[in-house]
Amino acid sequence: MADARLLLDWRNDTQTRANSRQHGLVVWHAHLDWLATVLCDPARELLIAELNGVAVGTVRLDTREDDTVLSWTVAPEHRGKGLGRRMVELAVDRVPHRRLTAEIAIGNERSMAIAKAAGFQLDHSAGDMMVWLRPRLTGSARGGESLAHGGD
Ligand SMILES: CC(C)(COP(=O)(O)OP(=O)(O)OC[C@H]1O[C@@H](n2cnc3c(N)ncnc32)[C@H](O)[C@@H]1OP(=O)(O)O)[C@@H](O)C(=O)NCCC(=O)NCCS
Repeated sequence: MADARLLLDWRNDTQTRANSRQHGLVVWHAHLDWLATVLCDPARELLIAELNGVAVGTVRLDTREDDTVLSWTVAPEHRGKGLGRRMVELAVDRVPHRRLTAEIAIGNERSMAIAKAAGFQLDHSAGDMMVWLRPRLTGSARGGESLAHGGD
């Protein structure tokens, strides 16, 4: 729970909300409830990306029966530096045996580029969201950066 404030700040950032299915502001207590639920759920993994010891973003992996859903956010002050691409690549490498799904808002050019680079392909659109899929592939370990569990 140590990362709760950071994660809420990133979630309530204007650009994050614009690119989310739910556009509204999340209040502190609702966020804490949500975070506690995620951290207790073995089917969900909430990771914090760190660069030189500084938290720069988050990736969540939600495991369903047939696939794993990936979602990601980069800290506002660290966007546009290639970190989103790197952290999603690292996350994908953790689950090479899984079929992956990512939901991306139409017009979110950066996330589309990230998804393409990580091997996703556009499958279909639903409302203002696109569903991108990545088949099971083998991954390779990458050095340097790290992804740690949120709350660690
Ligand atoms: C979307 C987001 C994750 C991107 O992360 P980022 O670290 O800023 O992105 P990167 O710097 O890794 O850039 C990703 C790609 O977008 C490209 N890009 C950068 N700025 C761009 C722009 N204005 N328009 C289009 N593409 C752009 C980059 O060239 C890069 O492509 P490349 O790897 O082929 O060169 C980040 O901006 C963010 O957290 N936004 C708010 C929340 C959000 O949208 N989450 C994603 C939900 S799916």
